[in-house]
Amino acid sequence: MSRLAFHPAIAGPPLTLAADVESFYHLPHGEHAGKACQGTACFAARHLNPALWAEANAQNPRVYCLGECFAAPAKGQTNPRPPVKVFSRQGIVLGRIGAGGARTLADYGNYAALAKALQHPPEQVLAAVEASGLRGRGGAGFPAGRKWRAVASQPAGEKYVVANADEGDAGAYIDRYLMEDDPHALIEAMIVAGYAVGASKGYIYVRLEYPLANSVLRAAIAEARAAGWLGPHIGGKNFAFDLEVYTGHGSYVCGEETSLLRSIEGKRPEVMARPPYPTERGLFDQPTLLNNVETLVNVPWIVTHGGEAYAALGFNKSRGTKALSLNSLFNQPGLYEVEFGVTVRHIVEEIGGGLRGGGKLKGVLIGGPIIGIIPPHLIDTPLGFEELAAIGAGVGHGGVVAFDEHTSIPELMEHVFSFGAYESCGKCTPCRSGSGRVEEIFANAVAGDATKADLQEGRDLVAALKLASLCGHGTGLARFAESILNYYPQEIEPCFK
Ligand SMILES: Cc1cc2nc3c(=O)[nH]c(=O)nc-3n(C[C@H](O)[C@H](O)[C@H](O)COP(=O)(O)O)c2cc1C
Ligand code: SF4
Repeated sequence: MSRLAFHPAIAGPPLTLAADVESFYHLPHGEHAGKACQGTACFAARHLNPALWAEANAQNPRVYCLGECFAAPAKGQTNPRPPVKVFSRQGIVLGRIGAGGARTLADYGNYAALAKALQHPPEQVLAAVEASGLRGRGGAGFPAGRKWRAVASQPAGEKYVVANADEGDAGAYIDRYLMEDDPHALIEAMIVAGYAVGASKGYIYVRLEYPLANSVLRAAIAEARAAGWLGPHIGGKNFAFDLEVYTGHGSYVCGEETSLLRSIEGKRPEVMARPPYPTERGLFDQPTLLNNVETLVNVPWIVTHGGEAYAALGFNKSRGTKALSLNSLFNQPGLYEVEFGVTVRHIVEEIGGGLRGGGKLKGVLIGGPIIGIIPPHLIDTPLGFEELAAIGAGVGHGGVVAFDEHTSIPELMEHVFSFGAYESCGKCTPCRSGSGRVEEIFANAVAGDATKADLQEGRDLVAALKLASLCGHGTGLARFAESILNYYPQEIEPCFK
């Protein structure tokens, strides 16, 4: 195989999955089309369209989060595009989003950041990413520069760059619009990354539930290839790089990095223990740089303006800007770019304009359902990785879901654990069996049929999830449950007799 040839098993759709692999996925044959969404933003807004929510709940297989949270409860991808606004000194991430975006090279322009990067040794590109203080936007907040350095430090040979475009966190539709409206920013970033770490191939793992993102990216890659930005001798240099889109099959846990890489390899995508980390042994056992879409989309700006200019934005250890997607319960749902350091109150009251219909805030979930909820008395906490972690919450993916008085907290627990159990990869017992039992306990509590002993069993299961989960799915469910049990005892305890 030439250096630029793709693995035969993944050289584009349609892909035939082995039976034991196919059985892992919820939507192996694209069954999401026209389905109603069962994600957390739709749960929060289910009172706005109870019939649609009932339809979503009756579906098998389920469909979680179609990235339509601004119009939740939602069905299919049919709504008008959300409003987009930048509340930062720089529109780094959302600058080209909205009003049709920049889908073609003619709209995007030349790959100026890549051309600049190619004028310098890879070491200088690495140094700029390190100096920027950019941290992963996929949930863990890991320093991007450290990850890039780790891949670059591996011996020369086959290496990969992978973009995690599996955005499954309910409430998040940031990566969706970045791919649909600004595909060349992601492609350019991945080529820059390939140059910096010494990789010659890349994959973009796009979730099935984002059909437009899939087709826009494939067209943009073809355009970039035709323009000579992908292929051999990029920019006239001895540097080759090419890219492929891999479409998922409807599995939330495939957003977890080891699961995602196994999915691309055509294996049953159960989560794998780390170490070894993908930076050492990733895709096809080769060193792999895996970053979230939004993380990567920051890179062209960093290369163009310098790492220090990026680090001048934001606050504390959270540098730069963050895109946020606000759900339909806000008066102003939409996509917003803010600098780190704004308070959650500012996001809710100023940016989101408060809750629709004068709704009373019951809690805010930032970053998906596997993270702690922020209760109203803590909304003066600033948006920052450490600051939100200190209250049991997190930046996560940046999807912001507000709950109002229509949400019953025990029902929310049941909903989140139902999602958790459905999406568990099954490798760890507390997640595979325990999350389903927690769902059952809270379903019984909602029905008025649960005891104090059941609540204690639920607490014990959450403790086991926290201690014995191999990946962030199980530990995240535990974090969510802990935040509920800590912050809403007045709603939980009366449900257990
Ligand atoms: C259950 C689970 C689901 C995840 N889903 C996503 C996802 O959809 N997109 C994403 O970028 N990261 C997701 N992550 C985080 C990835 O494992 C990984 O940390 C991230 O993609 C690394 O990129 P970053 O450093 O740029 O954030 C998920 C993690 C877990 C545990
Ligand atoms: S915590 Fe859950 S999703 Fe993660 S590896 Fe264990 S069983 Fe799989």
